[in-house]
Amino acid sequence: MTDSALTEADFAAAVGQAQVAAKSYYDTGEVLMTDADYDALLDRIAQAKQAHPEWDDGGLTMQVAAGVSGGGDVRHPVPMMSLEKINGDEGVRTFVASLGGEPCLVEVKLDGLAIRVEYDSGRLVLAALRGDGSTGENVTAQVLRGVAGLPAQLATEWTGEVRGEVYMTVADFEAASANRVAAGAKAFINSRGAVAGSIRSVDRTYETPMTFAAYDISGAFESHRERMARAAELGFPVAGRLATGEAQVATDAEAALAAVAHIGELRRSLEFPIDGAVLTADLESTRRRLGSGSRTPHWAAAFKYPADTGSTVLRDIEVRVGRTGRISLRAVLDPVFVDGTTITYATLHNPKFVEEQGLAIGQTVAVWRAGDVIPRVTAPIGEQPHGLTPWAPPEACPQCGEPWDKSSLLWRCHTASCSATNALEYWCSREAMDVEGVGEALCVVLVNRGLANDVADLYQLTEEQLAELPVGNTKAGGVVLLGKLNAAKVVASLERSKAQPFNRVITGLGIRMTGRSVGRWLAARFKTMDALRAATVEEIAEIDKMGLIKAQHVVDGLSAMSGVIDRLAAAGVTMSVPETEGDKPFEGRTYVVSGSVPGYTRTTVSERIEQLGGRASGSVSATTTALITSETTTAKATKAAKLNVPIIDPAEFAEMLAD
Ligand code: IVH
Repeated sequence: MTDSALTEADFAAAVGQAQVAAKSYYDTGEVLMTDADYDALLDRIAQAKQAHPEWDDGGLTMQVAAGVSGGGDVRHPVPMMSLEKINGDEGVRTFVASLGGEPCLVEVKLDGLAIRVEYDSGRLVLAALRGDGSTGENVTAQVLRGVAGLPAQLATEWTGEVRGEVYMTVADFEAASANRVAAGAKAFINSRGAVAGSIRSVDRTYETPMTFAAYDISGAFESHRERMARAAELGFPVAGRLATGEAQVATDAEAALAAVAHIGELRRSLEFPIDGAVLTADLESTRRRLGSGSRTPHWAAAFKYPADTGSTVLRDIEVRVGRTGRISLRAVLDPVFVDGTTITYATLHNPKFVEEQGLAIGQTVAVWRAGDVIPRVTAPIGEQPHGLTPWAPPEACPQCGEPWDKSSLLWRCHTASCSATNALEYWCSREAMDVEGVGEALCVVLVNRGLANDVADLYQLTEEQLAELPVGNTKAGGVVLLGKLNAAKVVASLERSKAQPFNRVITGLGIRMTGRSVGRWLAARFKTMDALRAATVEEIAEIDKMGLIKAQHVVDGLSAMSGVIDRLAAAGVTMSVPETEGDKPFEGRTYVVSGSVPGYTRTTVSERIEQLGGRASGSVSATTTALITSETTTAKATKAAKLNVPIIDPAEFAEMLAD
């Protein structure tokens, strides 16, 4: 069925749908369909209306022509105009030709709402939305609640009017969306809808950060650039400077096209949403010469980029652990074409956010491409279909099965083997290899730059490589490099770490359910990496307090890390307990062990005492060096007390055996 062949009933239904969507959008900011879907629906209505002028569209096509919801309560002394859309390269050429070689500025078209703000002696006294161009809604109270770039009080006692766009940066949007969802409402679909909703609501209980940038200011100026210099001087952010630092100037069509294309390329990396480029005459004389129509000036025009929001069906949510151990949620989508790319995956914020939105597999969702290359799922669209079960995040890390650390919104898995960064950090930590100067920031860059994907790679790093790595920011926003001195320290510390005892090497591998003690137990029992790798689950489980489950993790972990272990050995990292010939710290001592020593079996504890040059005995006598026990009332303990034989706690003794 072609669009013009809509039946009158279909037409009425389409009109109803558009009216509901528009009302919801303007009244509550809730978006029932994406801008692109809404535009397509209106196109169909407009086409049918052309074929059947007698059909009732409820004024919808007229309203669209006005481009806004009706009216407001503040009269604009000078109308707030909108911009003529120009299409494709031809449109740009025609517009530039109309300027007759006089300078044309090309700047971002921010995707928000037009706002007019009056200042009196530096004090903000009125803020109004565009409305229908001649009157608009008074939003002074909302703006005074806080819009970045629109201070309640300027540093200068300026009286005048500034016009510009109120919008949400990607960060504003994410915060606003999360706050809104936490308050029990639906998430926003994109920042324009979010601004439309937030700036109108007087009594919302949650924060929705917004930002302002100016594109006009009252006063007499020779050029737009001068005008904007004054705006900047007064402290207003300037739209034309946001993306490119200074406004781009073109005097011919090719230069203008290049500038438009340049902004198009930048678009994906901008941390604020734009929906086009504005081409505008720089000189006041050009503007006067070209004049204005009833709704749009002839001296400016808008080039539109493709929509950055699409809608599609959510097919799955994949849960992964990122390089830093943090949970990452990936939406699997029915392929949807958004701004030149087919999207099948998108990121979701965090588990709580997804849960609170009630997202369900099979649900239609909005996908937004803004701020970075990774598209994001922002919200469910329309009503939740019946019969779908809301998605619930897994309680444990899917990679290792350990419960999440939920202390921050981005849950974290602390199992070292779950993430390269974690693994490096843990290896270098005090409890493992004790490498100085290798903290989280350095580990993250090492992994991100591909310089160290596992702990063995650390031993290949050079001072030159390390010195150039960024490890922080200065207050002024500059980058702090590790530097030669620190790089040398790190390399030296890594070199020293090769001699750390074998038990620390085992610990440093970060095998699941293992830590410092298991490292010690295994080193004491098996003595060499070869022997440890050859051990069976049962043999390992024999160690006191070990148990079959931990033993299984040890076997699995060692086998998973076998390549890393080989490379560590090749790098010269300790892979065995040193032969104690000549170095027998327990020489001449006799110990009586009663009960268990952590990490040892009855056999191995004796083995270890003997290996260190001591003697293991079963009964306390005057020649006993110490009794190892945690009890104080046993026969052995009483006897030891009587004979003045010291008592050592088993855990402490385990430390002595390890050192
Ligand atoms: S100049 C006569 N510059 O786009 C109006 N507008 O459809 C002069 N917009 O109403 C507007 N970024 O809300 C201009 N850098 C920019 C802009 C911009 C966004 C909006 C503005 C305007 C709409 C035109």
